[in-house]
Amino acid sequence: VTPKMFLTNPLSLVSNEMNTLAKNIALMIGSGHPVLNRVTGYYFEGEGKKVRPLLVLLLSRALSEIPVEQRQRIKIDYSDVPEDPIYSKPPSALLVEPPARHISPLSILHGIKPLNPLTKGPEPFINEFDEKRGILPKQRRLAEIVEMIHTASLLHDDVIDHSDTRRGRPSGNIAFTNKMAVLAGDFLLGRATVAISRLRNPEVVELISNSIANLVEGEFMQLKNTAIDEDYKKINNAGNLQQLPSPTEKTLTIGHSYRVNTPSAISHDRMIETAFEYYLHKTYLKTAALISKSCRATAILSGAENNVVDECYEFGKNVGICFQLVDDMLDFTVSSKHLGKPSNADLKLGIATAPVLHAWKKDPSLGPLIQRNFNQPGDVEKTLASVYKYDGVAKTREMAIEYRDKAIANLRSVLPPSESRTALELLAKSILTRRK
Ligand code: FPP
Ligand code: MG
Ligand code: MG
Repeated sequence: VTPKMFLTNPLSLVSNEMNTLAKNIALMIGSGHPVLNRVTGYYFEGEGKKVRPLLVLLLSRALSEIPVEQRQRIKIDYSDVPEDPIYSKPPSALLVEPPARHISPLSILHGIKPLNPLTKGPEPFINEFDEKRGILPKQRRLAEIVEMIHTASLLHDDVIDHSDTRRGRPSGNIAFTNKMAVLAGDFLLGRATVAISRLRNPEVVELISNSIANLVEGEFMQLKNTAIDEDYKKINNAGNLQQLPSPTEKTLTIGHSYRVNTPSAISHDRMIETAFEYYLHKTYLKTAALISKSCRATAILSGAENNVVDECYEFGKNVGICFQLVDDMLDFTVSSKHLGKPSNADLKLGIATAPVLHAWKKDPSLGPLIQRNFNQPGDVEKTLASVYKYDGVAKTREMAIEYRDKAIANLRSVLPPSESRTALELLAKSILTRRK
């Protein structure tokens, strides 16, 4: 049976939890300092898409459709749980190197009415299934924790990216200063950590803690030395970030501040392949890690069996990568005004994302521009023209579709058909049609 309400808005399945999300977060982030309270609460006042909590809550419901007899996880020994089998190592043959920055979008999913519990928001939808097919209190808390961590990372991200707007308002760094934005982000992380530990599940603590580390590692992979970065000079003078290769080796610097040392010249195809490998690894860390690990944690908290837990993790990973690919696309296609944050920002920050890498594949002359972080007059314009000419955006979209379809297959492989599973599929599909 599909209630009418569901057909018009799949997210109504978790509207109660979404309506109380901000209120519950507010209860976790109070401090004795009024200004700190203003800064930590600031991004929660804007209309975020809240994709991460939506995923956790809908997945919780979908998992609760699995018969209870099949939800007794026996794993107790955490000592030998392999962490992140696929992504625990950096891509082969790559040497980590110097710094940079970046920007891209986040806001309201296409066609989905934002729930904003801090302001009035829509009337809570009384959901008859709430009592029977439960979202567990720990899963609800997990949804709140994940939104707190994400918000902390946005406060930091806007400092790193020198962004001046977020969610249609001045960004935290502009409204309050860099120092306060960074400290508020740290405070949110601190309180999120308290809440994680109170879930009393060591495996979940480990997953979510590590996702915080992953976010930072992803940002480091994206750091660039660019002229607009006031730390540029200091970093270069410090010298310790420049791992210069031995003079006998030919060196190739690919887009994202990595160098590949090759004993002989590397083919253009291999170079592109390596650049994509790097880009996807970075994308996993900076965006998909938090999503995939929170989906995994959601499944663990439901008591699901190992194969279900693994598929939920893969689902989150594929959704997360799809999400960032679309983010990187929108940076090329949507105006700042519409995004509510700076657009066309990646090139200005010196960052080559998927649309550029696709163009580079067809247009080898982009190589030097990517290497010098588009810092010469005309570089940004030439790259934009090449992205346009070689369909960089459309090719990125094709990639995003592949990840979306993999995500949907992950869900279908372990979850019984249900409204919540359908809602998750619709949510995954809406990533491709969003304009913010
Ligand atoms: C947005 O990316 C930013 C992220 C996905 C992660 C940012 C992570 C950090 C700054 C590391 C510090 C982390 C914590 C937990 C404090 P974007 O700049 O591409 O997107 P945007 O256009 O929304 O700015
Ligand atoms: Mg950024
Ligand atoms: Mg940014």
